[in-house]
Amino acid sequence: MSEFVEACEDWTVEPGSGRRVTVRGRPLAVFNVAGEFHVTDDTCTHGFASLAEGRLEGHVITCPWHGGAFDIRSGQPVAEPCTDPLQVHPCELRGGSIRVRLK
Ligand code: FES
Repeated sequence: MSEFVEACEDWTVEPGSGRRVTVRGRPLAVFNVAGEFHVTDDTCTHGFASLAEGRLEGHVITCPWHGGAFDIRSGQPVAEPCTDPLQVHPCELRGGSIRVRLK
């Protein structure tokens, strides 16, 4: 099991939006849902779109390319053409830092 490592500072992710970060060479998306943070892989499982550039509504991120969508809590697809789940990563907020444990 890997340890938690810093992804970014919390103030850099606006509520209702996502931000792409790279942790240990892996592109991740950090989402802020009204002060609650979630971290997923950034790359859509349908193509190669950056989900951090998608539209976040509640806990659903809609891909900017073809309109597929995922629940960022579970990674489950909720709209086609996405059918494969998105990897989610445990995260914690500590001292203003969003930390992630890569899966
Ligand atoms: Fe995301 Fe196609 S690349 S829905």
